[in-house]
Amino acid sequence: MGSDKEQVEVSYDVSNEFFRLWLDERMNYTCAVFESEEQTLEAAQLNKLSILSDFARVRPDGKVLDIGCGWGACLEYVSTARAAERAVGVTLSSSQAEEVNARELPGVECVEHDFMTWETDEKFDSLISICMLDHLCSPEQARQGKAVDIYRAYFKKCWELSNPGAHFGLQTILRNKVPRNRKDLADVYFCTHVIFPGGLNPRLEDIIQAVNPYWEVVTVKQRRRDYQRTTAEWLARMRGHETTIRDKWGDQVFDDYDRYLSTCVRAFDQFYSSLAQYELKRLD
Ligand SMILES: C[S@@+](CC[C@H](N)C(=O)[O-])C[C@H]1O[C@@H](n2cnc3c(N)ncnc32)[C@H](O)[C@@H]1O
Repeated sequence: MGSDKEQVEVSYDVSNEFFRLWLDERMNYTCAVFESEEQTLEAAQLNKLSILSDFARVRPDGKVLDIGCGWGACLEYVSTARAAERAVGVTLSSSQAEEVNARELPGVECVEHDFMTWETDEKFDSLISICMLDHLCSPEQARQGKAVDIYRAYFKKCWELSNPGAHFGLQTILRNKVPRNRKDLADVYFCTHVIFPGGLNPRLEDIIQAVNPYWEVVTVKQRRRDYQRTTAEWLARMRGHETTIRDKWGDQVFDDYDRYLSTCVRAFDQFYSSLAQYELKRLD
């Protein structure tokens, strides 16, 4: 078991208002893709959604499944900018599901459930999953050598929920080099165990192994510098609201998120972490 419901709520249920202060206006809580030095975070997040929608071949009459949908940025994008007929999101977080469903977007439904045990008769033409896989395997399971089997069960479930000919736009954080100094090691451990308990960023080679025999890897894009820039932007925006955050949510919340976001900026710079986007095609 990776992050369970209680652990996911540690990561995402501090308060919707807290995250709204420092994420982009659509509340994407994942790496944006910057087209230029001048591009804003807001535009770069739309760019990311466009890339993944292209990878997933989202089309106007199509049905889209967003696995780990967060606060619904991608659901909103596919239903408005891409006019998808139906878009279903799954999240383990109650506050995210409430937020998405309250918006009453046309054709959009958000289900609060563990994706791995969720059952539905619907099948989807396009799948998108943005940094949900990072919650699936715990550090302990990875040490026991179970990571590839856990990811393969996820790709099998995705296959079972898709229609023949389906495409899948996947994004995951990656775990690369282990830090060689005590401070970085302690900070990376803090992010894994305190901010995102129960989960562990996957290794690229584990994902490439686990997609078989369900999905063909068509494209892989590496976006390490984009995530460094995204987390640097989040950190600057959060620090801009330091007084409000300390007053409303307490010193511990501000200090923990300051440590976590500063660590992310360093981790992407030092190649401890990276980010990849994958275009996958269903094997029929
Ligand atoms: C880092 S957030 C990304 C959210 C969104 N995709 C985005 O780009 O902003 C990870 C998401 O995965 C969801 N998640 C984690 N484990 C899950 C599970 N087993 N089943 C369903 N959702 C899960 C969390 O609730 C959260 O919405």
